[in-house]
Amino acid sequence: MAQILVTGGLGFIGSHTVVELIQAGHEPIIVDNLSNSTASVLDGIEKISGKRPTFERVDLKVKAEVRDFFSRYTTLEGIIHFAAFKAVGESVQKPLEYYENNLGSLVYILQEMRDLQIDKLIFSSSCTVYGEADELPITENSPVKAAISPYGNTKQIGEEVIKDAIEAHGFNSISLRYFNPIGAHPSAEIGESPLGVPLNLVPYVTQTAAGVREQLAVFGDDYETRDGTNERDYIHVVDVAKAHVVALDRLLKGQNQGNYEVFNLGTGKGSTVLEVIQSFEKVSNSKLNYKIVERRHGDVTAAYADTTKANQVLGWKSEKTLDDAMVDAWRWEKKIRKIN
Ligand code: UD1
Repeated sequence: MAQILVTGGLGFIGSHTVVELIQAGHEPIIVDNLSNSTASVLDGIEKISGKRPTFERVDLKVKAEVRDFFSRYTTLEGIIHFAAFKAVGESVQKPLEYYENNLGSLVYILQEMRDLQIDKLIFSSSCTVYGEADELPITENSPVKAAISPYGNTKQIGEEVIKDAIEAHGFNSISLRYFNPIGAHPSAEIGESPLGVPLNLVPYVTQTAAGVREQLAVFGDDYETRDGTNERDYIHVVDVAKAHVVALDRLLKGQNQGNYEVFNLGTGKGSTVLEVIQSFEKVSNSKLNYKIVERRHGDVTAAYADTTKANQVLGWKSEKTLDDAMVDAWRWEKKIRKIN
């Protein structure tokens, strides 16, 4: 059992990872500033796992708060760092807030790791670092392309900051590059709760079906894909969460090959927007109200992972299907909207 700091542990991927950590016998300590989550997520975690993890409200972009937290928790063995802003469009409007929040917090955490000799870090990165990849599926060796948004830039720079810190201070770190995490815990005790109008596809789909939104806009059907809509690698959030536990155990057991490793977290299978809608309609036995509209600025045509490295080196493989994820996303949406 290891005591692990989980930043952003009340968020979508963070909360599912906390559950998996508890179930694997670890002791997660959650910090979160509640900027995009609520403390009630702790109830869901407790219902699933039977344990209520320690939670501290900390704003990681405030150095004094970070210092204070680490001065009180002296037995941490590793850190999983989720806490970050993640809205691509918003990051274009508020780049300085994105750099401050996403990179400030990372730097402060790395400084504490250096000072307190904590040497294990899992970092939430993103397939966005690959941009419009020249070859599909995308391997970890695909070049990192110039970021199209400040959000994407924070992930690229974050990886660079970690690499430089490793060079100087000898940490061990794994960056996990997520493709498109979706779904919810099958228990429907935790899931995705975007504030306001959802920007991501699946919560928009489920909210439309629940009657919270009028109609889903599909952003373009003139891309060079099999049906003209964008292709993405949608991966169940529980699979993503489990990968964090595997990556953490790899560091705890010293099985990592070199101080810095990168893994793609995807299923290896691309699905188009229309295929996602079809999957939803099938599992919910309903028709979704949608219409095709203009392309959304900044969307790449297609992105899906080559998962060979994660499968063979990390020893992790996604297990759930797109349909599984849609079933769970819908079960969660119905629960929070009190629909039978
Ligand atoms: C992108 C990034 C991802 C990043 C995420 C943060 C890429 C390839 N992916 O995800 O790394 O972490 O942003 O939010 O750069 N769509 C609609 N209608 C909607 C919403 C979405 O048609 O109302 C379509 C989009 O055009 C896209 C797909 O659904 O083709 C998925 O969109 P979304 O869920 O926003 O994720 P990405 O943009 O792929």
